[in-house]
Amino acid sequence: MNKEQVYQILLKQAKSLVDKKVDDVANMANVSRLIMEHFPHHWIGFYRVVNNELILGPFNGPIACTRIQFGKGVCGTAWQLQQTQIVADVHQFPGHIACSALSNAEIVVPCVRNNEVYAVLDIDSTEFGAFDNVDATYLEELVSYL
Ligand code: SME
Repeated sequence: MNKEQVYQILLKQAKSLVDKKVDDVANMANVSRLIMEHFPHHWIGFYRVVNNELILGPFNGPIACTRIQFGKGVCGTAWQLQQTQIVADVHQFPGHIACSALSNAEIVVPCVRNNEVYAVLDIDSTEFGAFDNVDATYLEELVSYL
């Protein structure tokens, strides 16, 4: 299966898994695990906007930093610009926040509701250049289910 086909399965599963009647944390917990089952990246998780900072939410992977300021790092930049960030080499990204020395590439997708970013989905890979526009397109669709 190619990446698109895996994403199509993942999206179908996510659609039936996400329960709008429960809170974001529960859905984010399952969605981060679901992505990991299909794409075993180094770290997959959410940061939620709480009191105007990004606070660590449900994730799969090693321990991560708990707070990220607006505009800081890849996550804070995705929040500020309301735009998915694809970073082929995190060591070249000014202000990248290194939660793990093993991470080399990253994608961060903002989760938007009523035109406001309320969370970001962050995925880290040990592989340089791991993410492209295919990931961005499908992950943007995925977070729209939340
Ligand atoms: N690298 C991120 C921080 C979060 S961790 O990767 C889990 C950033 O620069 O925003």
